[in-house]
Amino acid sequence: MKEPTAKHTVTLDTLTALCKRRGFIFQTAEIYGGLNGFYDYGHLGVLLKNNLRQAWQDSLYNDKGEVVFLEGALIGPEALWKASGHIEHFHDPMVDCMSCKHRFRADQIDLEKACPHCGNKKWTDVRNFNMMLKTTIGAAESSGSIGYLRPETAQSIFVNFKNILSTTRVKIPFGISQIGKAFRNEITPKQFLFRMREFEQMELEWFCKQENVKEMFDFWRTKRMQFYHNLGINKDAIRIRSHEGEELAHYSTQTDDIEYQFPFGWKELEGIAHRGNFDLRQHSTHSGKDLQVFDEETKSSYIPDVIECSVGSDRLLLALLFDSYHEDVVDNEQRSYFAFLPRLAPIKAAFFPLMKKLQEPMRAIYRQVRTVIPHIQFDVSGSIGKRYRRQDEIGTPLCFTYDFESETTQTVTVRDRDTTKQERIAIDQIIPYIQKALQNT
Ligand code: GAP
Repeated sequence: MKEPTAKHTVTLDTLTALCKRRGFIFQTAEIYGGLNGFYDYGHLGVLLKNNLRQAWQDSLYNDKGEVVFLEGALIGPEALWKASGHIEHFHDPMVDCMSCKHRFRADQIDLEKACPHCGNKKWTDVRNFNMMLKTTIGAAESSGSIGYLRPETAQSIFVNFKNILSTTRVKIPFGISQIGKAFRNEITPKQFLFRMREFEQMELEWFCKQENVKEMFDFWRTKRMQFYHNLGINKDAIRIRSHEGEELAHYSTQTDDIEYQFPFGWKELEGIAHRGNFDLRQHSTHSGKDLQVFDEETKSSYIPDVIECSVGSDRLLLALLFDSYHEDVVDNEQRSYFAFLPRLAPIKAAFFPLMKKLQEPMRAIYRQVRTVIPHIQFDVSGSIGKRYRRQDEIGTPLCFTYDFESETTQTVTVRDRDTTKQERIAIDQIIPYIQKALQNT
């Protein structure tokens, strides 16, 4: 396996601190000491994540079949999770150090060696730990029914399969897609957004006939790789790896991971899995409801197979942050910038008057542009260099400056984030200029 190269110019700690300082992402309930594995998104984080969600939805359109949307509840009844196999199978092996009481995932450390935390070698037996978060629904704890926060969004899709089939006019092959929260009581949440206890998934369940599974699997593999290329992610940092043997989840007969080369190694970004007809069959058996589709050609009913494409929004956002982060020297000053594609950048453009006394005309321009292009900023504080650096640091692709020449020529300068090159354009060309940058990416 190819080892990670040192191509990343930012460490996880620096990136985490930058995300907090510039208002992308905060630790949940930080003022109370935080909650391990939980994060809150600030303004820029929300905008960036929304752009990724939109890009993902757009990427699902295809010439094979329709894709419809669902937004399912976050909690499901116990019966659902029994049928899906999560109560029985959704666990990780756990081990404790008897000396320092630290808890580890047994498959992530070498039990032949001493505890990486305290240096003693006194392990408990390895036990299975179910990762679902359980809750009691109803006013009285004793008589309430048990529910679980969903560990994957997919199950809402399977249990709604019949509802969706009967209310939309979709025909096999077709997809049901969903963006929503998932919860896992991870034994060791770590690496910022990489392994969280509450996170968001973007999942597509693609329903097809069994005889078309291979063709469909290959089709989605190619299409999903194209998605990452279209986000501008470095092609050398993305690869596909097939699961083998025991690595396969309980529901899957074939899984390929799309992996990203994080600074801490090649790691899964997205799983593409052939789930067979396991889920629909299980829910059909456990609920007693018929979840078959009728084939007009053969005049017979069958349970379709499923190909699933599942990516975590937060993990993808982390990959994008690592991939887009750059450092260079401009005018003898070190700067850092996120080279987001304009359509993904949280802020599309910034507007500066060169000096405070020029702020009124530039503010008027900014207000007008804002009616057409949302998510732009106006900034008058500090030197022009400082203002450029602030925008670079949050990945704003374009900065417009109103200077003394603007007064007489009705022009502004526009500076490109990546090259730092500037050109002068007419004020009435600002909106088309930004629109063109957004369309071209
Ligand atoms: N429905 C299939 C499923 O849930 P998975 O491989 O367990 O498969 C799919 O998860 C994706 O969800 C992963 O590729 C990853 O991007 C994201 N993901 C899973 N666990 C995560 C966690 N603890 N924190 C952040 N993202 C996670």
